[in-house]
Amino acid sequence: MKLLIDDAHIDEIKRIEDLYPIDGVTTNPTILSRVHQDPVKTLTEIREQIGKDGILFVQAVPDDAEGMVRDARAIVKAFGESTVVKIASTPQGFKAIKQLTAEGIHTCGTVVYTPLQAFLAAKSGADYVAPYINRIDNMGYDGVATAEQIQDILEVNALDCEVLAASFKNSQQVLELAQYGVGAATAAPSVIDSFVKNAAIDAAVDQFRKDFDSLAPGKTMADLLQ
Ligand code: G3P
Repeated sequence: MKLLIDDAHIDEIKRIEDLYPIDGVTTNPTILSRVHQDPVKTLTEIREQIGKDGILFVQAVPDDAEGMVRDARAIVKAFGESTVVKIASTPQGFKAIKQLTAEGIHTCGTVVYTPLQAFLAAKSGADYVAPYINRIDNMGYDGVATAEQIQDILEVNALDCEVLAASFKNSQQVLELAQYGVGAATAAPSVIDSFVKNAAIDAAVDQFRKDFDSLAPGKTMADLLQ
């Protein structure tokens, strides 16, 4: 499963990318608005940080197909081939995805709340479909189960498209989808940190340090092997 950062703050992206095995960064207009600066500057900084091969997701802003296609072409021209354009999974969005697929531009059908929305985006040619796990949960449905149903639909219909699960609020939601074998998950830095936020892990690491200190106070193996 690919793991992406769902955030646009460059300091947080640097911190998370330094620590964890990260495949890229996902953004949307709301995420960009939280940085309070020109979105092109933000996206340029992110592209520089993740390198030309890191996967960068950037959303087309218009809600008509023609505008989405225009945005997508400009986004890929500015941020490179390994950029995936997020397109809202609406009727106009499906029209845009079909056109962009014909042009060889990678797309992600986003704003996915239902399995049939994902099916239509994938069948239109999207490389990814992004179900919003926590938002679906908050509507009284089961976000993880919806993503699993979408994964099944993609497999049964042999659609060349990956689930990019998004909108997570806790590590359990990510765990269940990693176990199910979805292609990708994107999560906020705090949620990624929570994968390993566990008092038992911290206590075990502390105990190893204390036990080694009892043999060689303040030293490491490298110190002793000099
Ligand atoms: O990638 C889509 C995601 O950012 C939506 O998340 O937290 O706004 O529900 P959220």
